[in-house]
Amino acid sequence: MIDLHGHYLPGVDDGAPDLETSLAMLRLAVVDGIEAVAVTPHACSSLSKIKDLTLLRSRRDEWLAVLKEHDPGIKVCFGAEVFFTSDLLPLLRENRDLLTINDGSYFLLEFPADYVYAHSKEFVFRILTEGFIPIISHPERNAEIQRSPAILRDLVRAGALCQLNAGSLRGDFGHMAQRCAYDLIQGNLVHAIASDAHDLDKRKPELSYVPALLHGVDPEKIDLYLRDVPRAVIADEAIPDIGEATSPDRHRTFFDFFRKRGT
Ligand SMILES: [Fe+2]
Repeated sequence: MIDLHGHYLPGVDDGAPDLETSLAMLRLAVVDGIEAVAVTPHACSSLSKIKDLTLLRSRRDEWLAVLKEHDPGIKVCFGAEVFFTSDLLPLLRENRDLLTINDGSYFLLEFPADYVYAHSKEFVFRILTEGFIPIISHPERNAEIQRSPAILRDLVRAGALCQLNAGSLRGDFGHMAQRCAYDLIQGNLVHAIASDAHDLDKRKPELSYVPALLHGVDPEKIDLYLRDVPRAVIADEAIPDIGEATSPDRHRTFFDFFRKRGT
């Protein structure tokens, strides 16, 4: 499995607080069967302890040098979880190596927790023409998308990708996020599932439990979420076709069954 989202870089956000924790998190990922991770600290966010991107880049490079000495046994590439700000486009242009995944076209885009900006769809169109492909991180945790998954459908149809948090399927972020997570899968709106790992306790780097929560879903689709799409993102290649994005039907009992199994 390949994990596209994790806060391993120590001391820069609400993720790993120190080097020892970051190394232990990588070892835990290896034990879970994860072969590669994208290290994605918060950027341009209230959760960023390092606001200056030049300094964040230095921290990244220093940690990478230490990793080479310790050889954690896992492939590591870098990116960031970039908060949606008005000056995002120039920031991406000037800091592609820091903010996009593996210095490619894809980047994790984080929305506010409570709402979606009215101009988000236009922003997706605009940023695609500039050669950047947004992967919306854990939209199932967004209150407006929970109320109306069609908002995400429109963003996906516009060309954005969607990354679900594995923990949402398990109920780690509450019932609303859990219900929304299954709705998004049912609506064919999910491209990747990632751990969004922050620590060694409640938000560990784990993905191996995901297939059991999706036992009614085509195994090939689960492979897309956990392997094929993340692999293409890191390689900066076109992602495999996941089918047409639709509006989730909340009356389907089939997915109610999943929800009961997932709690
Ligand atoms: Fe995150």
